[in-house]
Parts: sequence; structure tokens; C-alpha cells
Amino acid sequence: MSETIETLLDESRLFPPSDEFRAQANLNDPEIYARAAADPVAFWEEQAKDLDWFEPWHTALEWHRPFAKWFVGGKLNACYNCVDRHAAGPRADKIAILWEGEPGEVRKITYRELKDEVCRIANALTSLGVKKGDRVCIYLPMVPELAMTMLACARIGAAHSVVFGGFSADSLAERTNDAQAKVIVTADGGYRRGNVVPLLKITEDALSLGCASVETVLVLNRIGTPSSEPRNPKFRSWGDLVLHQSTDCPCEPMDSEDLLFILYTSGSTGKPKGIVHTTGGYLTQAAVTSKWVFDLKENDVYFCTADCGWVTGHSYIVYGPMANGATCVMYEGAPDSPDKDRFWRIIERYGVTILYTAPTAIRAFMKWGSEYPDGCDLSSLRLLGSVGEPINPEAWIWYHEVIGKKRCPVVDTWWQTETGSIMIAPLPGITATKPGSATQPLPGIVAAVMSEDGRDITPVHGALGYLACADGRDAPAKGAEVGGILAITHPWPGMTRGIYGDPDRFQKVYWDKFPNHYFPGDGTKVDEDGYFWLLGRVDDIMLVAGHNISTMEVESALVDHHAVAEAAVIGKTHELKGQAISAFVILRTGASATVDELKAHVAQKIGALARPDDIFLCADLPKTRSGKIMRRLLRDVAEGRALGDTTTLADPTIVRALKDQYEDKEG
Ligand code: WT7
Repeated sequence: MSETIETLLDESRLFPPSDEFRAQANLNDPEIYARAAADPVAFWEEQAKDLDWFEPWHTALEWHRPFAKWFVGGKLNACYNCVDRHAAGPRADKIAILWEGEPGEVRKITYRELKDEVCRIANALTSLGVKKGDRVCIYLPMVPELAMTMLACARIGAAHSVVFGGFSADSLAERTNDAQAKVIVTADGGYRRGNVVPLLKITEDALSLGCASVETVLVLNRIGTPSSEPRNPKFRSWGDLVLHQSTDCPCEPMDSEDLLFILYTSGSTGKPKGIVHTTGGYLTQAAVTSKWVFDLKENDVYFCTADCGWVTGHSYIVYGPMANGATCVMYEGAPDSPDKDRFWRIIERYGVTILYTAPTAIRAFMKWGSEYPDGCDLSSLRLLGSVGEPINPEAWIWYHEVIGKKRCPVVDTWWQTETGSIMIAPLPGITATKPGSATQPLPGIVAAVMSEDGRDITPVHGALGYLACADGRDAPAKGAEVGGILAITHPWPGMTRGIYGDPDRFQKVYWDKFPNHYFPGDGTKVDEDGYFWLLGRVDDIMLVAGHNISTMEVESALVDHHAVAEAAVIGKTHELKGQAISAFVILRTGASATVDELKAHVAQKIGALARPDDIFLCADLPKTRSGKIMRRLLRDVAEGRALGDTTTLADPTIVRALKDQYEDKEG
């Protein structure tokens, strides 16, 4: 990791917006930063007015740390804002969703059609007894019905909890139970790299683990499974229930602070956290950041490659772009199916203008070679985005040159499930970008860099570099960078309203670290232009191909295996995935298990995305005198580095022996 940091900070190339881009950009006057800083709450109120409200709010912000309420008293409906207001106007026949299935089918759904489909699903859910305030679990492949079902829930005031299709039956059951979902919406399967993901079978397994709150499972026919299959009495088919419903369904007027969705994300204790988002503030920030950061315009064809199972799909496939009436490309499958040019073919076919993808994908494209993008016409592209983990400068430059042909601004966007929307990112018509830096907090967002002991050490900038530190100490030397922990110091509209059902955990995880600020769990440096360089997690969360997985979660899955006595899991630097899961396992005396069997066990417990890349069976683990496993030393072993400080270990010979064995095996 420290090598990555050095390469990041050696990076001094600067990419100012071209005159041409600046001239047409939605935002091109830097004055917006000062205006927002002068009164962030008034600034966000101005943004909220872009939405359609049934009733105005009376108070912009009520802040009782750690709980915020935005646009209090206001009434609106997220589905109305994303669908109805477009379907009723000049955008009625504009394409809302341009979908491609992995096997190659294409569907083009206009805003008018989207409204009809969403109403049918909403009426079907209502007929199942789903009411305002209920929770619906969505476990679907990336088909249009996924976005439609999310919007249908929003329409009737039910909260959705989307569970990514790569999660296992255990994970699905755990999330369904935590949210006490009344209905699960799933499909007979989805396509991924030519294989069928058996979602219905997994849902059946989840039910057999016990999902007492679930009254109905609504099943979409995606694959065409023969109907002779044994069926659970709770199952209802889409064809029977949805297709004949009326296309009239009123939008439930929702309070600004009513629940819009829950989305589960990994937590350090191993138990996933149900991140709560409400309506008015979330939608305001998702909508306005789409317009600012992606420079979204009426004629854009926007392609975000995320899955709706992650927050990126929520905020930047569904709510943000659709609140703006955008045309969104949605793709079901893998980027290398049938061949490694699939994304580039999609861009060529539909004239995609904006592409939003992840560094892990970009690194894979680099490895596959430029001949794939070079063989396609990418001239429609005008802006490129990145999200999910720090982007290394080499990948940034490749993206800029090979995909963007040096014409397209690259926006590296830092945010989280918890922040709801983008927080730190360039404004493409204003900001000069630096490869590897997410640049600066957006207007209305206030961030700081903190020392480990909780001091605000954010440098105060002048034209020639630092003037002073925020806490009044002397300015660091010119050219030095200030490193520490990222904090957000002012409430923002899209911020999570908590962990579902667990206010104490919310306080503990995010608000105990610093007395007054939100703690996202990321390290950062700030350079002398005030640019933030995000450096990855400072907690026990790994970023595996851009997905959050906690070390504890994988450890619990491993020790759940009968042969395992103890397990320690680390994120090992990986050239494509950013981090790969690496486990050290001690087997019980007399028990035996193969490495493959243990890997399969983790995949079965959590989902294939958590399958460790390597498992090393060992006799002992390095521990402190108080019995804490020193994961830092295990990372040194796995990454082939000299061992760091071993003086606090109970028995330093253990880790030395481990290193020798590991190198013998690898060598
Ligand atoms: C964590 C949040 C944001 C949607 C997808 C991930 C890391 C995300 C960046 C970036 C450096 C980034 C952080 C963050 N992260 N984007 N542009 N630069 N790090 O959402 O699963 O909630 O993960 O992803 O570590 O805390 P998430």
C-alpha cells in the first residue's frame, strides 16, 4: 500500500477542462464553491427546488448529531420525480431504459412505457398487501424489472432492499430477516458469463433457512424455466400477478424523511449494516450530482456499468439520472461475454456519451489490451467516470487516452453507500484534474483531514500553497502533503439516516471516532492545492473488485466450517481487483479439509464474491500478548515484504516460520 501512496503522490500531471468542454458545461463558474460554502444549508435548499414537491418544506435542516432531517415537512414522491413528470411532458417518448441482456436481446423503454410498467408492478405489490412503510426485498438480475420494481416500491411508499444477485442463500435470508421484508421479488435466473445464476433456487434455499416475515415470493420469468418444477405455495408468477394489472396507480405522497430504501453493506463485526436512506434529501443530492459531475444533458446516452445491487446502481442508474429524465443504458452481464469488447460494442451501438465504471474493470481492460476498444467506434463518448476504490494513475491515464482519446474529462468520484451520493469529485467544466485524485469536495460538502488523535489538520490554502492548519498550528512546508483520516464536517442531504434497527451501532461506527464529524473509514492525503487523494480503508473492510467485504465476515464463514479452529483474513494487494482475499487457517487437531473445500464453504456462506483467492493452512498465527491477531504482519507475509515491527508479539518466531513456509509454498 505504501508504494501505491508514493506513486499516487508523485503524480503532478494536471488536466484542465478544454475551452470547448467548459463552454458547454452545466457548471463552469467556480463561484459556486464560495456561494455554497457561505451557507451550505441555503445552497442545498436551492438544489432541492429542482425536484417536484407536493408540499414545500418548512425547515431545511434539523441536525441532532448523528441524526439529520432535511427539508422537514416537505412532501414528494421519488417515483413521481423519476417517472411521472417526464412521462407527462415532452420526454414521454424519450427512451428511459435502453437494456441489453447478456445473450443479446435489446429492449428500449420510453418514459411513458416505464410509467405503465411501474404502475403494474406497484398495483401487483399492493394486491399482495404491501403498504406504505413495508419492506420489499429485491433479488433480481440486471433486467429492466429491477429498476422498475425499485420505482414501484417508491411509488407506493414501500422501502426496497435490493440484494445483489451474487449473494448466497444465507446472505439473502439474513438481509430479508433484518429488514423483516414482506415480499421477495426474484427471477427464475439471470445470465452471467454464459451461465445461469439460479436466483429462484437460492431464494428457495433462503426460505428454508427461515424467513418468517416473507408472505410472498414474486417470480419473474427471465430464463424460461419449465413450469413442472416443484413450487413453494408462497411463489406467485409475474405472468399471473403483474401483467394484467392496471396502469393506473397513484403516487403515495411521502414525507421528505420517510424511508426510501435500505441497502446492506459490510460491517467490521461481520454482521451487515442496513444503511437507511430517506426521500427528499437523498433524491436532491442524487439528482443534482448527476447533473454536475456527469454534466448530464438532454441528449446524453448515459451508461453506468454497476449493478443495481450496489449503491452506485441506486443513485446513478435509477434515482439520479432518471430524476433528470436521462436515457440510461443498462446491461445484464459480464464485460467479457461473449468477448472482451462487450462494453465498447454497447457504446458504439447506442452512441453512449457518458461512461461510469470502476477501476477494477479499467485495470482488466488494460490487461486485455487496447485492441478491443480500438476496434470500436467510441467517438460518441464525451465524459468518463470512475468509482469504487482509488484509481491508480496508470489506469486513469489509460482510461483517458485509450477510451477517452484525450478528449473526455475523467471524473474520479469518492462516496459510499452511507453518503448516498457523490461527495468528492471534480466538476468537469471547472476542475483541473490530477490522475489518481478525486480532487475536491463538491459544493455544499465540507470535508477535513484529521490526525489519528482527532485534530483537524486540514491545511488552509492560499494561492501559493498552505497558509496554516485548520487547528491553528503552523503550515506544513511547501510541497509537503498532509496525511490522515477523512472526515465530513457538515451534514449533507444524502447522508444515511442510520443503520436499520440499530441506532447505537450507527453512533459507534461512524460518530464515536471524532467528537463532531462523520468518520467514513477512509485514509486521505491533501496536497497543497487542497486536492484529496483517497487512500483506501483504515478499518477492517476490504475493497475487493470495488466491493466492500469485511475481514470478520470471511473469518466467521471460515470458522463455521467444522474442520477450522481459527482463521485470519486480510486483503492482499492484487493487480486487477485492488485487493484479493487471503486467509490463514488453523485446522482443528485431527480434522482435515482441503483448501478448495474451504473456499467453496465461504462462497456458499456469503456468495462467490467473497471466495478467498488463497488459503494458507498453518499451525499458528502471530498474536500480541493479549491474544490479538496481527493482521498487519500477515499482510507483510502475503505480499512478500520484510516483516514490520514484531516487538509486541507474544512469540516472534511464529511469524518468521510462517513467512518461510509461505515463501516455500509460493516459490
Ligand atoms: C468505499 C465505499 C461509492 C459507490 C461504490 C462503493 C471506496 C469508493 C472511491 C474513490 C477511493 C473509493 C472507499 C469508500 N471508494 N469510491 N473514487 N476513490 N476510494 O460504495 O461499497 O459503500 O464502498 O469505497 O473506501 O469508503 P461502498
